[in-house]
Amino acid sequence: MQLNINGQLHTLDVSPDMPLLWALRDHAGLTGTKFGCGKGLCGACTVHLDGNPIRSCSTPVSAAQGKRVVTIEGLAVDASHPVQRAWKDNNVPQCGYCQSGQIMSAAALLASNAAPSDGDIDAAMSGNICRCGTYPRIRAAIKQAAG
Ligand code: FES
Repeated sequence: MQLNINGQLHTLDVSPDMPLLWALRDHAGLTGTKFGCGKGLCGACTVHLDGNPIRSCSTPVSAAQGKRVVTIEGLAVDASHPVQRAWKDNNVPQCGYCQSGQIMSAAALLASNAAPSDGDIDAAMSGNICRCGTYPRIRAAIKQAAG
């Protein structure tokens, strides 16, 4: 199966119903996308599919064919995306496990809404769970990235 991941074509020997998460991690070697719940409930596995945030644990790899997949590794070279810079400035991560998913959801939000309200942020980020409770710093970082 051929997939466009981070702007590069990858030929992966995978079953069409394999979750995209495992195709990315185990076959494309992109381990920045994390496994949390495996049920579409925590957001740790969030990637972009044609610019939209999706849960790669509950999306079959076949659904990504012919579309653009972007993972945390492809968001920007040298982690220079405004959201990534804001994450660093605000020291958002604690344990860090959920943060690639958080960043991917935040980047998708800002791509579609350059000046999100608190309500917009809460709505867009509500599916991304952080056990360390970094939510206040996440909101601050999104506001900084929005400028
Ligand atoms: Fe996909 Fe939790 S691992 S939503």
